[in-house]
Amino acid sequence: MSRGVTVWLTGLSGAGKTTIALAIAEQLRAAGREVEVLDGDELRRGLSAGLSFSREDRDTHVRRVGFVAELLARHGVVALVPVIAPYSGTRDEVRAQHDAHGTGYLEVHVATPLVECVRRDVKGLYARAASGELTGMTGVDDPYEEPDKPDLRLDTTGTDIAAAARRVMDLLTERGLA
Ligand SMILES: Nc1ncnc2c1ncn2[C@@H]1O[C@H](COP(=O)(O)OP(=O)(O)O)[C@@H](O)[C@H]1O
Ligand SMILES: [Mg+2]
Repeated sequence: MSRGVTVWLTGLSGAGKTTIALAIAEQLRAAGREVEVLDGDELRRGLSAGLSFSREDRDTHVRRVGFVAELLARHGVVALVPVIAPYSGTRDEVRAQHDAHGTGYLEVHVATPLVECVRRDVKGLYARAASGELTGMTGVDDPYEEPDKPDLRLDTTGTDIAAAARRVMDLLTERGLA
């Protein structure tokens, strides 16, 4: 069985987490790997339905997704996790839980700056935050604690999706996980 790993893509809304995860998933599947994408937006409609965007509920969401990712990764799956995960302490808990089981874990900071995320405004959320219709928007009026020592930091401004995906694939190859 191939070694599983969790690849957590953390960063602001619109940074490119989902797009990059889906691109890598396609490549890994083509190479014969078992892959699951645990997308934050999707899981908030399922596993974490009913949770709010309070600090406590954001942490609960991240812990739940971390738990599922670790189970999958422990059994040989590449678990790709495009989830904002704004609090460093909670991200560290998830990493520690992987370490406790000897399960691989990589943190990728999709570090696209706020100004570029606002320019893209993929879901129209930044416009709603600017008009005051939406509060608690990460990076606007809610915290995002940047990772100190991510395994990879990726600013997608001015790069294409394929190049961003390649950086993550290279990291997996370097660590013997691709
Ligand atoms: N190099 C890149 N990597 C990833 N996404 C990019 C890149 N360049 C432009 N984009 C665009 O940025 C947007 C990112 O949206 P999305 O992946 O939904 O962000 P997130 O999941 O982080 O909220 C997409 O519209 C994507 O096409
Ligand atoms: Mg996303």
